[in-house]
Amino acid sequence: MVKKNTCVFISGRGSNLKNLINRSRDYNFPVKIRLIISNNKFAKGLNYAKKYSIPYLIIDTDLKSFENKILNQIKKYNIELICLAGYMKIISKNFLEKYGKLIINIHPSLLPKFKGLNTFSRVLNSKEKSTGCTVHIVDQFLDNGRIIIKKKFNITLNDDEKSLKSKTQQLEYKAFPEAIIKIYRNLNY
Ligand code: GRF
Repeated sequence: MVKKNTCVFISGRGSNLKNLINRSRDYNFPVKIRLIISNNKFAKGLNYAKKYSIPYLIIDTDLKSFENKILNQIKKYNIELICLAGYMKIISKNFLEKYGKLIINIHPSLLPKFKGLNTFSRVLNSKEKSTGCTVHIVDQFLDNGRIIIKKKFNITLNDDEKSLKSKTQQLEYKAFPEAIIKIYRNLNY
């Protein structure tokens, strides 16, 4: 099968990146990770780029021209899908327009609840009965675009921020690849 060239944007640990790289090695998985972009030169996730010999770019987002630098690389690698996997910068309207193709993001809550940062403490403080993760299309507003997939679990009395994070991430490793499959199999996301 012809796989779509995909770029993953990261800022930190990169466990979703690692999971996507592993899944993308399946013959039937619809995308191939061709490029990794990090706005943090210390991001642990960059080790996966090195380990799997995937080209990567460290981008200084303080530079005025950083978006153009990214767009040039995206063009060079003929990227058809961008996956934001723990990328801690907002994608600008200008970037969305200039790129013009699909960008998706994974967020550690059941959107539209708990957009933004510090989701786990807010979930606990709000006495939610359940939480989970969401993969959605990126638009110009934070954690806002059309939802492709959500996965949820029930919160127990013993849960704290650490356990919520770990349970949420286990679901993320299922949700992100499933969302990508849904997109390319046209499963009415
Ligand atoms: C994930 O929990 C994701 O939902 C959020 O950032 C975290 C990234 O984790 N957007 P990792 O870098 O993939 O381990």
